[in-house]
Amino acid sequence: MQKRWLKPLVFIVCLLPLIILGWQLYTGQLGANPIDEVADSTGEWSLRFLLITLMATPLKRLFGWAWAIRVRRMLGLYAFFYAGLHLFTYLWLDQFFDWGEIWLDILERPFITVGMLAFVLLLPLAITSNKFMVRRMRRSWKQLHQLAYVIPALGVLHFWWLVKADVLEPLVYGVALVLLLGSRISAGIAVKNATREGCAP
Ligand code: HEM
Repeated sequence: MQKRWLKPLVFIVCLLPLIILGWQLYTGQLGANPIDEVADSTGEWSLRFLLITLMATPLKRLFGWAWAIRVRRMLGLYAFFYAGLHLFTYLWLDQFFDWGEIWLDILERPFITVGMLAFVLLLPLAITSNKFMVRRMRRSWKQLHQLAYVIPALGVLHFWWLVKADVLEPLVYGVALVLLLGSRISAGIAVKNATREGCAP
């Protein structure tokens, strides 16, 4: 599908969660603690986009949906965008840029440590996501971008440690990640076997 409208459409659809959240905030629909709601929503959308990005390759492999690969970079950048908003909400509206407190929080609350680690690891992926860096880094780009599986795993752990008792939601995300990782590993094994058979005398 070589449609020119694909990328603009995906761009707008990915922006909808933010538009809806902004509207709910503006109209006072976020309840007694709107800051928590904004932090929760942006955090969850970041995790969702991380997982949706990982779905692009299996979708192409299973159903031949090549368009999923064309929007993969945009989806990954949206994961970064929502993570940035999530972090910014925490730094500004939760901690009022009190860097001493923020530093203590990172050191003393494991769920914050893991969230911060996820964000720090996401940075190099976002910076190197352009075509120029893909060409320049070659093999090391592929190695670096394997972090795309580590980051959502940290996101799930971050969520799990936050909710403590009611782990259903992080569990669902965790299972989705395991399935995506399983699909990636089985595809890798299939390619290896095919190469070996191709090389056989
Ligand atoms: C890729 C990075 C990150 C992801 C995927 C992520 C994801 C999430 C998710 C899914 C939640 C729970 C949402 C819910 O309860 O429905 C959450 C909550 C939270 N996250 Fe993150 N997070 C990330 C990074 C960070 C960072 C860097 C910080 C701060 C240093 C942070 C601070 C928080 C806080 C304070 C909450 C609780 C919000 C509240 O209930 O008030 N997160 N995050």
